[in-house]
Amino acid sequence: MKMRNKQRKSSAFCCNAGSRCSLPVVVWSLVGCILMIHLYSVIRQNDDENIQARLKHLAITRELEEVEEESFHMPPPRGRRSPRAVKRRGPRKPPSVIDEFLDDSSELRNFFFPDRRTVIDPSREGNDSMHYYPGRQWLDTDGNPIQAHGGGLLYVESTATYYWYGENKDGETYHAHKRGAARVIVSAVSVNQVDIIGVSCYSSKDLWTWTNKGIVLPGEETNITHDLHKSNVLERPKVVYNDRTGQYVMWMHIDDVNYTKASVGVAVSNSPTGPFEYLYSQRPHGCESRDMTIFKDEDGKAYLIYSSEDNSELHVGPLTDDYLDVTGVVRRILVGQHREAPALFKYEGTYYMITSGCTGWAPNRALAHAAESIMGPWETMGNPCVGGNRIFRTTTFFSQSTFVVPIMGLPGSFIFMADRWNPAELRDSRYVWLPLSVGGAADEPLEYNFGFPLWSRVSIYWHRRWRLPVGWKGVQT
Ligand SMILES: *[C@@H]1O[C@H](CO)[C@@H](O)[C@H](O)[C@H]1NC(C)=O
Ligand SMILES: *[C@@H]1O[C@H](CO)[C@@H](O)[C@H](O)[C@H]1NC(C)=O
Ligand SMILES: *[C@@H]1O[C@H](CO)[C@@H](O)[C@H](O)[C@H]1NC(C)=O
Repeated sequence: MKMRNKQRKSSAFCCNAGSRCSLPVVVWSLVGCILMIHLYSVIRQNDDENIQARLKHLAITRELEEVEEESFHMPPPRGRRSPRAVKRRGPRKPPSVIDEFLDDSSELRNFFFPDRRTVIDPSREGNDSMHYYPGRQWLDTDGNPIQAHGGGLLYVESTATYYWYGENKDGETYHAHKRGAARVIVSAVSVNQVDIIGVSCYSSKDLWTWTNKGIVLPGEETNITHDLHKSNVLERPKVVYNDRTGQYVMWMHIDDVNYTKASVGVAVSNSPTGPFEYLYSQRPHGCESRDMTIFKDEDGKAYLIYSSEDNSELHVGPLTDDYLDVTGVVRRILVGQHREAPALFKYEGTYYMITSGCTGWAPNRALAHAAESIMGPWETMGNPCVGGNRIFRTTTFFSQSTFVVPIMGLPGSFIFMADRWNPAELRDSRYVWLPLSVGGAADEPLEYNFGFPLWSRVSIYWHRRWRLPVGWKGVQT
């Protein structure tokens, strides 16, 4: 039906050998053609400048968006395996890459956790300078491995300095006893833990060379009733600056060793490098709160986003003007989707979020979400990971989201920050930083949207080795 119509229509405008052509038709066709060409050149001229600007931008970002493949071979099955891996897998199931990843005696160990010989060392001059190597050990300017797990960045404009806050896990990893269902839900695969040592802070002007500013919120050694007592849990610290009070406010997940407290803690400081004064913990809006993050919007309003209801949904709510408490307003989002490790960012008025599934220390598939309002509704778009190979993409490159940083001067380009957890030796967990960009159509169009993607695609590109564009000025505002 369609085909026939098309044929008939086109033949009306065609002058082929067999048909008769009148003069008016030829003249009008010519006039039409000239008008079209003129219109086209006008549009092109207007677009030229835009295109030039875009091409320049593209040349810079193209490097970040290159798709890199990754291959590795599963070692043949062995007779002996670590008792933990056997227990987890049970009998007769084929070995999975996740098992290999979690098995500290695996032949692939050095692939996932490269040893000290390949360390990223800012004191070493050479062609590796300024390059990120996701998964390798990363040293600070003192030559020690950076201890800022589950972290986030803060940019302080007045000094053009980035601060990286995260969990200092530089202690012995021990196997906490499983107690109660809550613990099992939160940490289905492993219950490894380290004592609370505190929140570390590192500073940098270029996002690559990091100087240790020490522990800005230390754990509590003796007072066993204190939230920060070393036997408890402190995770995912995030710091925001309050323009009204001039204070740096830290929010973090506070829990007991069984993950039954499920609270958020708040600390405050007059300086980005602390010391932070711990204020209190609470269950926000009376709800459980485990993995969480803080997002400060362009209008100065800040929001708490946390996994709740046994991690089956997320909650989002604005903070008070001083950022020291939540208000009474809260929305449930991604209900029933079982997401954690939220990392939020905003681009061209749209809010985006990367989350992980809930499988304890084991890596799983990331999802990108988008919303017009931070309070929702939030839509799930699909897996943002690009490149590597299928296993890389279904494990978020063997890592878990923690934060997304805008790359200043490159609109639409971000750094995706994630943790490659090492449950056997948590202090040796690695950082996976990769370029993230927003653009192009989402690959999983929403049902009610008649198949048209509503949101831009969020892409996280795998790179074994990458750097920010040469000449990128981390200090520009
Ligand atoms: C860096 O330099 C070393 C020594 O000059 C060289 O062996 C290596 O291939 C270089 N690496 C890259 C990625 O260019
Ligand atoms: C121990 O911590 C609790 C809770 O923060 C506090 O109320 C109490 O005063 C502290 N005790 C001492 C001896 O510092
Ligand atoms: C949590 O763990 C502690 C010590 O490991 C135990 O004494 C306590 O009973 C547990 N609490 C709950 C609610 O399971």
